[in-house]
Amino acid sequence: MSKHSSNPRPLTSGTGGGLKGTIRVPGDKSVSHRALMLGALALGETEIHGLLEGEDVLRTAAAMRLLGGETEKGADGIWRARGRGNGGLAEAADVLDLGNAGTGTRLLMGLVAPYPMTTFFTGDASLRSRPMARVSDPLSQMGASFVTRSKGRPPLAVIGTATPRPITYKLPVASAQVKSAILLAGLNTPGITTVIEPEATRDHTELMLRGFGIEVKVEETPEGRASAIKGQGELKGRKVVVPGDPSSAAFPIVAALILPGSDILIENVGLNPHRIGLIDTLVEMGASIEVKDARIEAGEKVGDLHVKHSHLKGVTVPAERAPSMIDEYPILSVAAAFAEGETKMLGLGELRVKESDRLGAMARGLAACGVVLEEGEDWLTVKGNGKRPKGGAHIAVNLDHRPAMSFLVLGLAAEKPVSIDDGAPIDTSFPGFVALMNGMGGTISAVTA
Ligand code: S3P
Repeated sequence: MSKHSSNPRPLTSGTGGGLKGTIRVPGDKSVSHRALMLGALALGETEIHGLLEGEDVLRTAAAMRLLGGETEKGADGIWRARGRGNGGLAEAADVLDLGNAGTGTRLLMGLVAPYPMTTFFTGDASLRSRPMARVSDPLSQMGASFVTRSKGRPPLAVIGTATPRPITYKLPVASAQVKSAILLAGLNTPGITTVIEPEATRDHTELMLRGFGIEVKVEETPEGRASAIKGQGELKGRKVVVPGDPSSAAFPIVAALILPGSDILIENVGLNPHRIGLIDTLVEMGASIEVKDARIEAGEKVGDLHVKHSHLKGVTVPAERAPSMIDEYPILSVAAAFAEGETKMLGLGELRVKESDRLGAMARGLAACGVVLEEGEDWLTVKGNGKRPKGGAHIAVNLDHRPAMSFLVLGLAAEKPVSIDDGAPIDTSFPGFVALMNGMGGTISAVTA
């Protein structure tokens, strides 16, 4: 049975001309969640420029307010947070409803674990089906306990501890969310809490904690990258500049690559080295993507991307690259459908437990659009012939923003229009997606009954 939002918005995209123009995509979702959490803890004022005002992040802002932090958007468009200092969270008087947001939920579970209080979490049908034991297992070792639905799924309660213990934890799955949950629990835990990751994942938490004045040491060890936080330091308010989200930029990038005649500039895109696996892969496939004016802003690398229509060739994407492009496989599989030759994507097990089973969703949807492919438990091979796919399918997106945008991008360049049953989930990460794409010449419209 497919899942929908309470007010589903069916959308369709039909073949149009090339995309042209200069755009900016909304702020980075990962950085935005973290800025709200740390800002609402830090002493003094934190200014957040360019916060993503998507559903997921607004849920985190509301959760931080319930936990006693002050977080508001000013009339000047800048978000400001004021906290009570490290250790200063208060028990929430209501359930934290994180909607669709796995990142918000998992990071907050860590944040509240080292407090003598109970915090309740819930979310939408997608979130309530997602595995949380990967977070509650290490947090239990630190002294917290949990009440969950079967298989560790939300709704759940975190029963925090007054006497948290620091741990050294080796991640069984490559997950920045799990790493961050443990580091955020370590923030209010005496001593040194260490997370070892066999495969390096995005390091926004480590970079931002340091920016707020917390001691975080990162070193390569024989077992993997070890990130160690010294607990109970004080966070000092600061200015955070949120870069454009590379995971959102991925959609106009691929749309421009597959639509003949396209030539676009995407300004101010986050280029953290742990987030650019898609760009590396597309360049290997023959994409014309030029990085301009690469610079560092508030600790994160950013740049402008000049993208032109390109003839793409199939490649093998190694499993080791998965952590640096984990959210980009749905849109990469669309690019692969337009490429000539086979694109093999390996090490995709984690895609099965995202906002939906993205591996299954892409395989089914692409096949319905006439794309030849093979799906394995943790891999996908798309067999392109260098021509545009047939399209002409209606896709159920199951409350998942990224397949929703991916299939709309496919429809822009396919032979026949593609429709999705619900475009509402797009607002979780990319509010204004349809207007932005259409502003460059895209042809996405509401489906009228
Ligand atoms: C995120 C980490 C990734 C990613 C998610 C955001 C983060 O999840 O899929 O969209 O902000 O830490 P995992 O850590 O589960 O891989």
